[in-house]
Amino acid sequence: PSDASRTEQGELTLGGVPVSELAATYGTPLYVVSEDDFRARARGFVTAFSQAFAPETEVDVFYAGKAFLTTHAARWATEEGLNIDTASGGELSIALAAGVEPSRIGLHGNNKSDAEITRAVELGLGRIIADSLEEISRISTIAGRLNRTANVMLRLTPGVHASTHEYIATAHEDQKFGLSVTPVPGTQTADPNPYLGSPAWSAVEQALAAPGVELIGLHCHIGSQIFEPTGFELAAQKLIGFLARVEAASGAVLPELDLGGGHGIAYTEADHPRQPEEIAQALAAAVRAACAEQGISIPRISIEPGRSIAGPAGVTLYSAGTTKDVVVQDGITRRYIAVDGGMGDNARPVLYDADYSAVLGSRKVTGEHILSRIVGKHCESGDIVVRNVYLPAAVTRGDILAVPATGAYCHSLSSNYNYLTRPAVVAVKQGQAQVLIRRETEEMMLARDTGFAPD
Ligand code: LLP
Repeated sequence: PSDASRTEQGELTLGGVPVSELAATYGTPLYVVSEDDFRARARGFVTAFSQAFAPETEVDVFYAGKAFLTTHAARWATEEGLNIDTASGGELSIALAAGVEPSRIGLHGNNKSDAEITRAVELGLGRIIADSLEEISRISTIAGRLNRTANVMLRLTPGVHASTHEYIATAHEDQKFGLSVTPVPGTQTADPNPYLGSPAWSAVEQALAAPGVELIGLHCHIGSQIFEPTGFELAAQKLIGFLARVEAASGAVLPELDLGGGHGIAYTEADHPRQPEEIAQALAAAVRAACAEQGISIPRISIEPGRSIAGPAGVTLYSAGTTKDVVVQDGITRRYIAVDGGMGDNARPVLYDADYSAVLGSRKVTGEHILSRIVGKHCESGDIVVRNVYLPAAVTRGDILAVPATGAYCHSLSSNYNYLTRPAVVAVKQGQAQVLIRRETEEMMLARDTGFAPD
């Protein structure tokens, strides 16, 4: 986070609070999030995108709660002018508990239950992003029963898959999300509309005709941890071409285009993400050009960043425990430093081979740095926190190690594997610390066990 610093003695401080104080007060492992950093990044997206698309159109930024959601985080985001994107009834409950206006909430999901849809329609959510043909009918039926109209967006698969650095244009994306814009084989006709016969086209026709459904726009999300604007530009071009076809064929003007999230962050020094301004400007230029080419007016734009807001704002603190020097190759020794957490609080290395870095937080040591690997205490050899990092040879039991860029998809992906208790989440701000999520206790875990705590 931008408000990380070192004291004169060399101790790391986060939001003005020394890490030893955080560790002593709240224990380790500990998720620490800088409120100011989170808010500044959230606001940064609103400013960058609003300015880039002005004066022609407005931009709504939806904070993707799946990255990191607590009631405080939802309030920070909404206070900075963002809306909240949720991906389940559970995330929706957190946003509502934070007091977020239903009109400022979106609901995603490839398999929404009837209960989730009913709740969304009753609440009058700002948008339900429909992910399948059958979901459109279920929304329509439920809206009819409740005598309501639901704001619906359609999640399309534009055939642009951005896998971090590469952009692979696939005819059919072999994955569960969205409605493809590519015609189903065998349905091609002489009609000049290239989308006729695609699931996406059928979905638009169905949604426009469905009672109780107000089709407010199209959505796509091309991937996550993306560094270059190219993939976003290609997806926008594709969807604008599709929008123009819809307007020409039905006369319906769909007011909004949601380009999803996926903006990359730096996990290690090897990562060089673009600033939101740069992506916003590239995207605005692509949207303007595509709309001009298609002869349609520029729709309202929305985006759904998650990682790029929460990720850099968070740091995980661990206490170093057992160390072990392992000869990995002739002459090369790697020091394994085990910490008091691991894959339960950060599943990303084991799930995605994700790389992180780490620093010694409790003190500054000059002198020899050695190749180290930070591992967890779970019963699994893949339980790695930081694969390779040069740390002072002096690191010893009780030292605090800080792993940056853990604000997104760490707390939200955390588990109880081996019945380790999940860490607390503490916010720091200008010298003050505040607990956002209490540390899980063994009592909390046992409370679910009917052999111990009968109903
Ligand atoms: N919108 C939609 C529809 C999404 O599916 C996602 C992420 C986002 C927005 C937010 O994307 P972001 O800006 O955070 O990249 N657990 C994985 C990431 C999964 C992303 C799923 N969808 C990880 O830790 O890398």
